[in-house]
Amino acid sequence: MSVLVFNKPFTQQEPISPEAIAEAARVLESGRLHRYNTVEGEDGDTALWESEYAAYQGAKYCLATTSGGTAMQIALRAVGVQSGDAILTNAFTLAPVPGAVAAVGAMPVFVETTENLTIDLQDLEAKIKSSTARVLLLSHMRGHLADMNALCALLEKHGVLLVEDCAHTMGAEWNGIKSGNYGKVACFSTQTYKHLNSGEGGLLTTGDADIMANAVILSGSYMLFEKHLARPDKAAFEAPRFENPNCSSRMDNLRAAILRPQLPHLDRNIDRWNRRYQVLEEKLRSAANAVVPNRPQQELYVGSSFQFLVPDWTDETCRAFVDACKKRGVELKWFGDANPVGFTSRFDSWKYAPEQSLPGTIAILRRIMDLRVPLSFTEEDCDTIGTIIVEELGRMSQS
Ligand SMILES: Cc1ncc(COP(=O)(O)O)c(C=O)c1O
Repeated sequence: MSVLVFNKPFTQQEPISPEAIAEAARVLESGRLHRYNTVEGEDGDTALWESEYAAYQGAKYCLATTSGGTAMQIALRAVGVQSGDAILTNAFTLAPVPGAVAAVGAMPVFVETTENLTIDLQDLEAKIKSSTARVLLLSHMRGHLADMNALCALLEKHGVLLVEDCAHTMGAEWNGIKSGNYGKVACFSTQTYKHLNSGEGGLLTTGDADIMANAVILSGSYMLFEKHLARPDKAAFEAPRFENPNCSSRMDNLRAAILRPQLPHLDRNIDRWNRRYQVLEEKLRSAANAVVPNRPQQELYVGSSFQFLVPDWTDETCRAFVDACKKRGVELKWFGDANPVGFTSRFDSWKYAPEQSLPGTIAILRRIMDLRVPLSFTEEDCDTIGTIIVEELGRMSQS
C-alpha cells in the first residue's frame, strides 16, 4: 500500500499581487522611500497606509513601524513603562514579546496558560496581586482569544492597563469587537508570516491622543509629526516632542505601498484561512488521542495556524511523532522542547528574564503541536495534512 506524503513547503506565502508590485515600482521610481520625503501636495504612502489601517481597525490613531516588535517596544514606553518596571505577559508566546519588555528595561512576569491556549485569568489575578505590575502585554498567541470581557473586567478591577499584541489576530474579533480595540494600545505585525506581508513591518493603534503623540515621537518623527494623517491634533505633541527619545522605528514608503493594496483582501483571506482551518479541525477531532482547542462562539478567529494537543507523552514519543510526520512532509512545531528550534521558544529559555515557575504552562506546552496554514495550501492540501497527522497519531497509540 502506498504511503500518503505531502510535498508543499509550510513557509511559502502567496505571491505579492501584480497591483502591489506596480505600487512598489511607483515608489522605487520616485526615489522617495523615506516616509517624510514627500513633495508639495503629496501625503506619502506611509501616512496614507496609517489612515487606511485606522479605518479598517476602527481606531482613531495609527502609527506604522519597522516591525511588530518595535511597535510593542514603543507602545510600552508610550504608556509610561519605565526601566525596572514589572510587566505581566503570557508565558505561552514567542520571543519578540518578552523581547519588547526587555528592550524597555522592564521585567516580564509570566502568566499561566489554559488548555484553550489563552491566558489563565485565575493566575493573572494572582500575579496582579503578588507583583507590582500595572501593565499587561497580552499576546493573542496563535490567534486564540481569551474571554476579553472577563479579562477587561478583571484588569479594570485592579487598575491594570492593557496593551494587546495582535500579531496573530489582525482582523479577528471577540463579541463583535475587533481584537486590538479592547486594550489601550494594540500592536500588529506585517512580517511575511502574518496576515499582511511586507517582509517586515508593524502597526500601533490607539484611541488615546497622548499615547499616540508619544508613540509618533518615539518612532523617530523628528519634528515632522504634522506629516502624519492618523494622528491627534498638534497640541497633543506639545510636551511629548521634548520628552520622548527618537527610537528610529519608522516604516518606509516602499513597504507601505506593498501593504495598501493587500488590505481590501484581508477579510476575504480570513474566510479562506478559516475554511482551511476547519478542514484540519474536522480531521483532528476524529482522532481519539488529540485535543483541539475550543473556539468559543464569541470568537471570530483567523485560522492562519492550527494547534492540537497530544496526550501527555514522553519527550521521546513527542519527538518520534514530529519526526514521523516530517518524513511524510508535514512540518509540526512542538513547543515542549526545552531546546528551542526554528521559530519556537519556551519561556524558560529566555534567560534574561527572572526565573519563574509555571508548571501549568509547561504541562500544556509539552503537548502542543503547531502548524502553519499558508494560503498557498488548498483545502485539499489541508485534508491530506490532516489525514497524515491522524494516521501518525493512530500509529503512536498502537506503539
Ligand atoms: C506572538 C508574536 N508577537 C509579536 C511578534 C512580532 O512581530 P515582528 O516579527 O514583526 O517583530 C511576533 C512575530 O513573530 C509574534 O509571533
